[in-house]
Amino acid sequence: MNQLKMGAALALLLGCGTVFAAENYAAAAAGLLKSDFKSKGPATVERVGNRDEVQQACSADKPLAPAKAQALQAAQLKTVKAPADGNYLGDWKAGEKIAQNGRGMQWSDKVGSENGGNCYACHQLTKEEISFGNIGPSLYQYAKLRGTSAEIVKYTWAKLYNAQAFNACSRMPRFGHNEVLTEQQLKDVMALLLDPQSPVNK
Ligand code: HEC
Repeated sequence: MNQLKMGAALALLLGCGTVFAAENYAAAAAGLLKSDFKSKGPATVERVGNRDEVQQACSADKPLAPAKAQALQAAQLKTVKAPADGNYLGDWKAGEKIAQNGRGMQWSDKVGSENGGNCYACHQLTKEEISFGNIGPSLYQYAKLRGTSAEIVKYTWAKLYNAQAFNACSRMPRFGHNEVLTEQQLKDVMALLLDPQSPVNK
């Protein structure tokens, strides 16, 4: 075997080695999760152990191919359910409490109890707020800047319901799809973003 061929054979071997190691690692991690963690209250092992197709695609080693991302987004968009009574807007004051509340879905919470939306952890919402996260864009003056047309209302609902319908690997929780927030809570947060009286639009 000449040097070139040996190099190629070695590269192939190492390449395969890496792939197998990554697969074994994922399987071992899933096994550990299932054997070592116990479900308690609303914090279930299924929540972390059973990844759906977007979660699997978004935690792969390679970045998502654009066509694959689009297909996943289209599938996520299909999960969005419009409000049963056709009314998208609730009460912005209730919405603000939800946006500031980061509690919920922990083992110590009652099953079925309402969760917070924790929006401030990632977004600026009002001018007064002195402490907020910036993983997501500022939502200050959300409706003032883009209006409240039917398209904007529907887009905002869908984004809150399932953020991955617009960005397959979004880091924003899928509030409706994963039942983090109830339909009424989603309406209240919608009002926080879209009501002209809300501090978001002042
Ligand atoms: C863990 C971080 C995180 C949390 C929590 C979060 N978001 Fe987001 N959000 C993001 C990111 C990141 C984006 C940018 C787009 C994307 O990647 O999906 C975004 C985008 C958005 C958009 C679209 C903005 C636009 O210009 O189109 C809206 C609306 C929004 N978030 C509202 C909310 C609301 C309301 C809450 C709380 C109920 C919330 N987000 C909680 C991370 C978060």
